[in-house]
Amino acid sequence: MTNTQTMIQGDCMALMETWEDNSFDAIVTDPPYASGGMSTTARMADPLKKYQVTGTRKIYPSFQNDTRDQRTHLLWTIRWMEQAFRLTKNEGWLMVFSDWRQLPLTSDALQIAGWTWRGIVSWDKTESCRPQLGLFRNQCEYILTATKGRYNKTVRTCPAGCVRTPMFSKDKLHLTAKPIPLMEHLLGILPPGSRILDPFAGSGTTLAAARNKGHTAIGIELSPDYHRIACDRLGLILPA
Ligand SMILES: C[S@@+](CC[C@H](N)C(=O)[O-])C[C@H]1O[C@@H](n2cnc3c(N)ncnc32)[C@H](O)[C@@H]1O
Repeated sequence: MTNTQTMIQGDCMALMETWEDNSFDAIVTDPPYASGGMSTTARMADPLKKYQVTGTRKIYPSFQNDTRDQRTHLLWTIRWMEQAFRLTKNEGWLMVFSDWRQLPLTSDALQIAGWTWRGIVSWDKTESCRPQLGLFRNQCEYILTATKGRYNKTVRTCPAGCVRTPMFSKDKLHLTAKPIPLMEHLLGILPPGSRILDPFAGSGTTLAAARNKGHTAIGIELSPDYHRIACDRLGLILPA
């Protein structure tokens, strides 16, 4: 199989600004949520503290840009979503992950950035996630979907809007990894041979799913540790 996946180590905010308009068919991404707590102190904790389940044996590298307050997180999200909009072709897609706390901020940001909001896909992580007695089990995360203007009416498919799949720890290469079957499901709305950008690529899950589905994908990752993990996973040679 030809390797049509590329990983770049760097800051997507700086890199995206240098690329040409209309370069991609879809932006599919899982950015830092800047969430993970009910108080400012909890939100501003290191992602390792917020997202690592107590007692877990696997230790993952931490990552940046997850400790912003709401106002700066909103402005930062609008900034990268505006670049994503410019880089996407007409009728192309934005698919962006969020948790329940950041859902309103994320839907505001994408519309301010110019995208046409098309709805939400729910990811049901199953009962395997940690319970909090006295509250409903917090077992879903969400993928907000949007298009640049009209959607492509030649696509004759209508994928399910709710996906139930666990994140098995044996497949987990990132502190906040997403499962490959979920990513493959999301890519099912795209025309064959699409060109995808994941500006917050982490361990390269979007790129692995894109390769399985026959799409081309470029990933940007700020952390050298996760960039290396993604390159290993995808069989890409690390630049010297
Ligand atoms: C939620 S994680 C993505 C995890 C990914 N979905 C996976 O399955 O591995 C977000 C990633 O964005 C990266 N990141 C944060 N700020 C960034 C930036 N400005 N440019 C590129 N990557 C960034 C972090 O290092 C982190 O790995």
